[in-house]
Amino acid sequence: MEVFEAVQTALAVRDFQRKPVDDSAILRIIESARLTGSSMNQQPWHFVVVQNRDTLTEIGKLVSSGPYNAQAAFAVAVAIDRSSPFGISDASRAIQSMILTAWSEGIGSNWTGWKGMDSVASLLGIPTELDVVAVMPFGYPARILNKGKKRRKKLLEVAHSERFGQPLIGQLP
Ligand SMILES: Cc1cc2nc3c(=O)[nH]c(=O)nc-3n(C[C@H](O)[C@H](O)[C@H](O)COP(=O)(O)O)c2cc1C
Repeated sequence: MEVFEAVQTALAVRDFQRKPVDDSAILRIIESARLTGSSMNQQPWHFVVVQNRDTLTEIGKLVSSGPYNAQAAFAVAVAIDRSSPFGISDASRAIQSMILTAWSEGIGSNWTGWKGMDSVASLLGIPTELDVVAVMPFGYPARILNKGKKRRKKLLEVAHSERFGQPLIGQLP
């Protein structure tokens, strides 16, 4: 899948088939995170892959905004170095790499939770100097979402040409 097509079509997936994801796809998804660029190339991140069903069930209980982690084929806990001022930006880029890499192979995912997931950290044995900023469930989507459509602000509302307020549309060569 071409990169723009993946960006254009990827949606947040919250409902997964029972079908497992094979290890080579899991590895590619994690590789895409590892290979992502970070501020000053510090790579202040760790990615904990969880496939154990009991652990996924526990995660589903701990992440109140992501109970569907329990149904995922696997989940990735993303933890950043608490001392890194750019940790969230770096992790966000790595997360997007994983979302797009997965999507290009027909695997859906989403970002669940936010900083301070200490209960998830303790469940997974993640050291206290790291902060769990996201838990990402992955799996084959159970259904087509929103008829494949995205709800986004119009280009005119968010894109500007040369100066704020000047519309971009019609300005590009
Ligand atoms: C920083 C961040 C945190 C998010 N947290 C959650 C969450 O806790 N639970 C959830 O179901 N979705 C979460 N999302 C997913 C957003 O709700 C989703 O990206 C947005 O609604 C757009 O969805 P769409 O791409 O399917 O249109 C989060 C997204 C981001 C970027």
